[in-house]
Formats: sequence, C-alpha cells, structure tokens
Amino acid sequence: MMQTIYYDLRDIKGQQKEIRDKVAAAAKILREGGLVALPTETVYGLGANGLDPEAVRHIFEVKGRPQDNPLILHVSGPQWLTRYCAQVPPLAYVLARKFWPGPLTMILKRGPSVPDETTAGLDTVAVRCPNHPVTLAIIREAGLPIAAPSANLSGRPSCTTAQDVLEDMDGKIQCVVDGGPCAVGVESTILDLTCTPPRLLRPGGLPVEQIERLIGPIAIDKAVNASLGEGEQPRAPGMKYRHYAPKAPVTVVTGAPEASAQEILRRVGPDSGVICFDEYAHQFAGKVVHTLGPSGDKQIQAQRLFDVLRAFDSEPVREIYAQCPDNQGLGLAISNRLKKAAGFHVIEADSLRVVLGVTGGTGAGKTSFLDVIRELGGTVIDCDAVYHEMLEQSEEMRNAINMVFPGVFDAGGKLNRKKLGEEVFSRRERLASLNEIVYHYLVPEVQRRLGSDTGLYAVDAINLLESGLAEVCDRTIAVTAPTELRVRRIMARDNISEQYARMRITAQKPDEYYRTKCDCELTNAAETPEAFREEAREFIRRLLETIREEKSHGQE
Ligand code: TXA
Ligand code: MG
Repeated sequence: MMQTIYYDLRDIKGQQKEIRDKVAAAAKILREGGLVALPTETVYGLGANGLDPEAVRHIFEVKGRPQDNPLILHVSGPQWLTRYCAQVPPLAYVLARKFWPGPLTMILKRGPSVPDETTAGLDTVAVRCPNHPVTLAIIREAGLPIAAPSANLSGRPSCTTAQDVLEDMDGKIQCVVDGGPCAVGVESTILDLTCTPPRLLRPGGLPVEQIERLIGPIAIDKAVNASLGEGEQPRAPGMKYRHYAPKAPVTVVTGAPEASAQEILRRVGPDSGVICFDEYAHQFAGKVVHTLGPSGDKQIQAQRLFDVLRAFDSEPVREIYAQCPDNQGLGLAISNRLKKAAGFHVIEADSLRVVLGVTGGTGAGKTSFLDVIRELGGTVIDCDAVYHEMLEQSEEMRNAINMVFPGVFDAGGKLNRKKLGEEVFSRRERLASLNEIVYHYLVPEVQRRLGSDTGLYAVDAINLLESGLAEVCDRTIAVTAPTELRVRRIMARDNISEQYARMRITAQKPDEYYRTKCDCELTNAAETPEAFREEAREFIRRLLETIREEKSHGQE
C-alpha cells in the first residue's frame, strides 16, 4: 500500500499560490512516472506519462485492465497533434477547432514517439483535449501527453467524483486530484478518422448529431448497438468488454417512458431493483430505486448514470430493471452504457401493440424465430395449443363440431381424436368443414388473448394464411429455408431417416406458398442456430421500426 495524496482543487478561485503549487506537484509526479487521477469534464482519468512505457504499464496493473485495450492520450490542444500522430488529416483540425477542449476523442495514425504500451500495439492512437481547467493546467505544466483511461477498476462503472476514485484506487496510486463532480458524466465520443467516412466507435459526451452537422454523415460501428458475436473484433478494443456492470444482472427496458415503466412494473419481483426516471419512482414504492433524473433531461441522466450503477453494488438486489432514454443527442451514450451494463440484455416496451404472424414449414427455423420474440419480451400465441385447449373447454366449438361429425365426442364428452382424424383425412371437403368451424372460433379467441395490451406479440400458426388469423396481424412472416438444410435439421432434431424427413417436408405446403402469400420472408440459410437468431433479431428490429413508424404516423 502506498499513501495516496489527495489534492482538493474544487475551488480554483481560491488561493492562487496554493493552486499553482498543487498543479506543479501533480505534474511532477507524472513526470517522474507516477500515477495521478485527474478530473475531466467526462469522467475521472487515471493519468500517467503517455510516452513512458513503464508508467503506462502501471496503469494496466492498477486497473486490472486487459493488455489489448489501448489508452487515450490527453493533450492540451491541436498544436500537439503532429507530435504524436502521423498524417494528420485537415478534418482533424476542423473537429478540434470546433469541439476541443471537449468530449471528443479522435483516432489517428500513430506517430513514432508513442510507445506500444499506450496503443496496445495498434498503428493508431487516440487523442483528446479534456475540458477541465485543472487538468489542462497539469498537462501544460508537465509538458507531456497524459495517457489516461477512466479511473475505475476495470469492469466497474467509471468514476464521476474523486470519492469514486478513492473507492477504487486509494492506496494504489500516488495522487488523486479532486476537481469536483464531472459536468458531462459519460466518457468522450470516439471517432475514427483513419477511415472514410469517419466512424463512431463509442458514443459519448459529444452527440453524433453535432459532429454530423459539422462534417456530414458518419458511420456507426456495430459495437455501439449490439454485443458482438464470438470472434468479432470491435474497432475500439474496449467496446468488447462487459463494462459498468453492477453485481446483479441488469435488464434494460426501452420505449416511451410510460410504456417502459409499465413493463417494469409487470416484471419486478420482491428482490428487484429499479433504475428509473424521477417521475416514475413513486410507482416502484417498496423497491430499491435509484433515479436517473427527469425523463426530459439527458444532461442530468448522463451525470447521474455511473453514480446509480455504483450505488447498486451495495444494494441487496437480485436483478435490476432500467428505464432508458431514446437515442437522440446524449441519449445514445446513456443507452449504450446502460445496455453494456446489461450485457445488451434489452427488452422493448412500447405504447403500441405489434402483432407478427409467423408461419412456415417444419425445420425452417420458426421455433428459433419465436424464441427471439420471447427474448425481446414478446408474447407468443401458439395457435395449435389454443386449438387443443378449445377442444377441451369451448362448449360452443365442441357443439359445432359434434353437429357435423356426430359421435366424435364420447359419452363422457371426451374427444376421440382418432375418429375425428379418420373422418377428415380421408375426405378433403370434410377437412375443409372442420377447419371452417375451428377458424370461426379460433380467430376471436386469439383476438381475445391479444387483448388491448401494448407490446409485442407473435401469432404462431401453420394455417395463418387460410384461417383469417393474418387479418389480426400487422405483418405476416414466412420463415423459410433451403430444402436440403431443412432435411438435415429435421433428421438431427427428430432423429429420423433422410427419407422420412423428406416425406415430412413434402407433406407440407412448399416454401413458395408461404413466400408469395406472406408480407415478408426470412430465409434461414445460417450455419448455426445462434447465427440465425442473430439474423432474426436484426430482422425483427428493422420490422418493428417500420411498423412503429407507420403506427405513430397513423396516430397523429
Ligand atoms: O472521456 C474519456 O474518454 C475518458 C476520460 C478519462 O478522458 N477516458 C476513457 O478512457 O474513457 P478508457 O480507457 O476508459 O476508454 C478508452 C476507449 C477504449 O474503449 C479503447 O479501446 C479505445 O478508447 N481506444 C483507445 N485507443 C484506441 C485506438 N487507437 N483505436 C481504437 N480505439 C481506441
Ligand atoms: Mg473506461
């Protein structure tokens, strides 16, 4: 354990000499290879001389940070760019002039003076000029670029106060400089300028819209909105790690605040904790609640976010549900951090009801598709199961069947399935009249089950298109797959011969039928079930976006 020096520089209008002395002392520690936690406008940084491999190695040790995760060099202005970066494009100066000092980190080609330790061996380097008077003064005084990751232990929420830093770093580093609570509260926006168009690697304190207003459209890295598949490498190595994670698992609920509050209310149990906007806290009386701020004030939400995540570490909850702002402005960074804390476990709540009709032949992937619907918090209505329940319970339907097929119910009222089967499978018209009866009762029953509730529903029916059930759906979806793949899947799944698998497929309607009659088609040619689920997730996400767009216009 070392003694961590604490410098209070919250009030910089105070004793000028004292302030200058502390700034000089912090700069000296940095020049001598020590570690100093520094305030910035985004989050606290754990600083070291970015040109000193030994000092930089200490950062990784103290944080417990994976070796492959590079650091940001903090500089005091654009005039330093050419010292540490090669081939600085004019665009970098355009951005720096407008947004520095401020929460924008630029990825540029690395210059020869920057050691491998800082960039984790990459041929690029991240640079930013933080907007905090104390830290800018320390950087100038030290005359060095300061490599600084966020000052938390790796995996924990970033620190937005010097107290948070002490919680994680006391006794491990030479010095903590207290510059007051961070004004922005989420880390900087990271923009890769080594590609065209520039690419957003991490949303942060500078909203994308502001960057685009200045330089036109930028690309958004996939890691911003989703967890990456196995083997996929994000361009900002840090984006692949589970971050900001409280000990209890987090579920993020997106959608309009009223809808997400309702959805959380439906889900919370006795040991659940809730992260919500101020206005909704009273709905969760009796639960452990930490509030993000007013639903309309993203600046406050950003400031409080990490504090709330930290607070949950000392709460005895088993799971945490979190409301989440939309993606506009600072919302993109806030929701990205919440989703990362949740390992991208996200449920969509909505004030609208969306009903997807799902159909398709055996072995194509309908079951996986429906699993994804459930995973998104949706409800699946299995029409075959509904039909069988109704055969037991619906007196009306039973009577109607009995009229046309006398004797299929025995004296005790039990359906003789074998007999009914023999009746209908020998003659087409008989099957048609049974179907007519069943559909007549089934469609209203499914409608009843859909209720007037909001949310996502899937109606799973092999006879979706013939039954009239398609009418209650916003979209009908055919899940199809190449025949050879279906054969292999059915053989493996049901442990049957190839011949029998082919027979099962030919007994059903061809893909062509579903393809031409449904509103849309999802073809499952994926190598693995997980790959297909990933495609299904993206397919559903896009579809929901379109449907909600249509519906919300319809409502205006
Ligand atoms: O606001 C911030 O940026 C804060 C304050 C202290 O400045 N710093 C910060 O650092 O958030 P850190 O280390 O927690 O996050 C830096 C991110 C990581 O995801 C890292 O992978 C990425 O920047 N990064 C660093 N150098 C990179 C490079 N050359 N190419 C791509 N990504 C890079
Ligand atoms: Mg960090």
